[in-house]
Amino acid sequence: MCRQFISHAITTVALVALGALPAGGADNVAIKEKAAVCSGCHGENGISQTENIPSLAGQPDQFIQWQLVFFRAGSRKNEQMQPIVEEITNEDIRNLGAYFSQLAPPKGAEDDDPDLSKKGAQVAAGRRCASCHTDSFAGTKGVARLSGQREEYLVKALYDYKAGQRVGGGVAAMADVAYHMSDEEITAVSHYLAHLK
Ligand code: HEC
Ligand code: HEC
Repeated sequence: MCRQFISHAITTVALVALGALPAGGADNVAIKEKAAVCSGCHGENGISQTENIPSLAGQPDQFIQWQLVFFRAGSRKNEQMQPIVEEITNEDIRNLGAYFSQLAPPKGAEDDDPDLSKKGAQVAAGRRCASCHTDSFAGTKGVARLSGQREEYLVKALYDYKAGQRVGGGVAAMADVAYHMSDEEITAVSHYLAHLK
């Protein structure tokens, strides 16, 4: 049985080397290598353990692709992402979007302040966040997943939009939303969203 496995493994390696495997198989190996670079900051399996670095797991494919395009074009600026995007091709962007969107999304931790979450839920309802981000806050197309995202990153993102530091796509959807939000609202809604399961 062991020998069979080894001979299968050798055949697979040979096929990859010859480019004889279906595109998906070979791409998978290449994309895992690229994604390993991302894991250094965005965490194993796309779940970030680092302050101010977002989880990527379960973000919509298109959202990931657009953000990479924005970083590369310089319309979204970040010192840490800049050197990364300088080295990625359009094909990499498509593959990375597909790869991270398929990973299991982060689950919110135990809620240590349910009262704050309650306020946050009211903010989300009042400001109709779900009308774009979907009822489960899983996001769709170019609209980000918010559920289970790191709390302090959500806060940061909302202040970046509010200050006009993050512009995003052609539509100024988030600038309009964030501009009207108070500090209390930003704190509460971020706590609520980060703790969604
Ligand atoms: C040196 C650390 C570092 C590495 C390596 C890195 N990133 Fe990032 N990435 C960041 C930081 C920090 C941010 C948040 C930027 C901000 O605050 O606007 C970010 C943001 C992003 C975003 C936007 C997500 C969102 O929710 O707004 C995407 C998409 C992304 N990175 C993809 C990648 C991919 C794909 C790779 C690997 C090819 C990668 N990153 C490698 C640090 C890193
Ligand atoms: C009109 C549609 C719309 C509404 C309403 C809306 N959003 Fe968004 N949101 C978007 C889009 C589109 C993006 C991606 C923008 C970009 O490319 O930067 C986004 C991105 C975000 C991000 C950045 C996430 C990340 O990972 O980088 C946060 C945080 C966010 N929205 C929070 C909210 C909150 C909280 C509300 C309600 C108070 C809200 N949004 C209402 C469309 C909307």
